[in-house]
Amino acid sequence: MSEYASDRPRFFVIAVDGPAASGKGTIATGLAKAYKLPVLDTGLLYRCVGVLMKKARGNLDDEAAACAAAALLTADQLDDPALRTRAAGELASRVAVHPRVRNALMEFQRTFARQEGGAVLDGRDIGTVIAPDAPAKLYVTASPKVRAHRRWTQLKAQGERVSQKDVLADIRRRDARDGGRDAAPMKPAPDAVLLDTSEMTIEQAADAARRIVEVARARWNTTS
Ligand code: C5P
Repeated sequence: MSEYASDRPRFFVIAVDGPAASGKGTIATGLAKAYKLPVLDTGLLYRCVGVLMKKARGNLDDEAAACAAAALLTADQLDDPALRTRAAGELASRVAVHPRVRNALMEFQRTFARQEGGAVLDGRDIGTVIAPDAPAKLYVTASPKVRAHRRWTQLKAQGERVSQKDVLADIRRRDARDGGRDAAPMKPAPDAVLLDTSEMTIEQAADAARRIVEVARARWNTTS
């Protein structure tokens, strides 16, 4: 049994994984509010490393340089609105392929997960690598077209001018890179519950996620 699992009684960790614009961020925030837990959007860590590399005119394929940027990252850098842009998403997925970058960001995420009471983390590898013993795991998906429409709407609200076709191409490229990389590829943990939000409103998705977590919580309460 891992060190993490032996800590199980104190931390109710909810792992929310899935591809870009699947609804996992909204779901994670809703669950955090419902269960009064802190929430971490782990994509911001990779976005921040990508943006730092870009600012320093670094080569995104340079693993050592990206790792050095990751080691300098602090929590107060994560509020920067520049991290929410379309470009930052692409930079993030480029640096996220490097195993040393992922390792450099691991402790930050695990420390966040091990807060008294627990935490909600959303990302790509929370249920598989960061918190494999999390008592509640969701893998949130939606069709690429639905995700592209959602992301396009968000970007438009942020003032970015981009076509839905280009956003769909971004999403497909990112899915392929995130799912195809060797280091912690995006995939559901074997014990994750799949939630396809393609046909759901935000409210319906949030309700479905809550029901999944209720079942996990009841199980956790009887076993811890
Ligand atoms: O979730 P978000 O779209 O902000 O993530 C940006 C990128 O960061 C992803 O496409 C992925 O490459 C990377 N990422 C990751 N592991 C995580 C979170 C994000 O590899 N846990």
